[in-house]
Amino acid sequence: VIALRQQTDPSWIQLAVARFDAVLQDHAHCEKKAAAHALSLLTSYPQLPGLPRAMAALAREEAQHLSQVVQLLEKRGITLGRDEGDPYAKALYAHVRTSNPGRMVDLLLVSALIEARSEERLRLLSENLPEPELRAFYRELALAEAGHSNLFVKLAQRAAPEEVDARLSELLDLEAKLIRELPVRAAVH
Ligand SMILES: [Fe+2]
Ligand SMILES: [Fe+2]
Repeated sequence: VIALRQQTDPSWIQLAVARFDAVLQDHAHCEKKAAAHALSLLTSYPQLPGLPRAMAALAREEAQHLSQVVQLLEKRGITLGRDEGDPYAKALYAHVRTSNPGRMVDLLLVSALIEARSEERLRLLSENLPEPELRAFYRELALAEAGHSNLFVKLAQRAAPEEVDARLSELLDLEAKLIRELPVRAAVH
């Protein structure tokens, strides 16, 4: 997995455990966006070898996560609610170049970063939530996010082998800065 350059502040863990229901609502929307994003990449970049197969499988897996999280919400008597948006993802996408092939590489690398940060956050939930059932659920999902992050890096390497390391390093610095600067929310990011 990508080595992130800024660890999540402990204040996020405290807030996320205290307001877990809100985190769970946001988490459902994250899975929904991950599934939709996979299909959108397949639509935009069908020519990249391996991408259509990988994104079709990813969309199915993320939709499965969405289904699991929605069932958890129902079990806890919480409605899904509207998507409040994700300032973190929005700020990262703002750095994506507007024309290809740079755009394709950036979209893949930003996806890799979001998956890596999600891995960290879901792992923190698996280590800090009180309910054993939830801890096991988040442990499993964190492992899945790690795999997704690696998949996106691999696709980015295939898309632009000569520039991917330098661009990933730039985006890692930007991501770390965002994590330091954005307010802590009762949400995955
Ligand atoms: Fe997922
Ligand atoms: Fe994912």
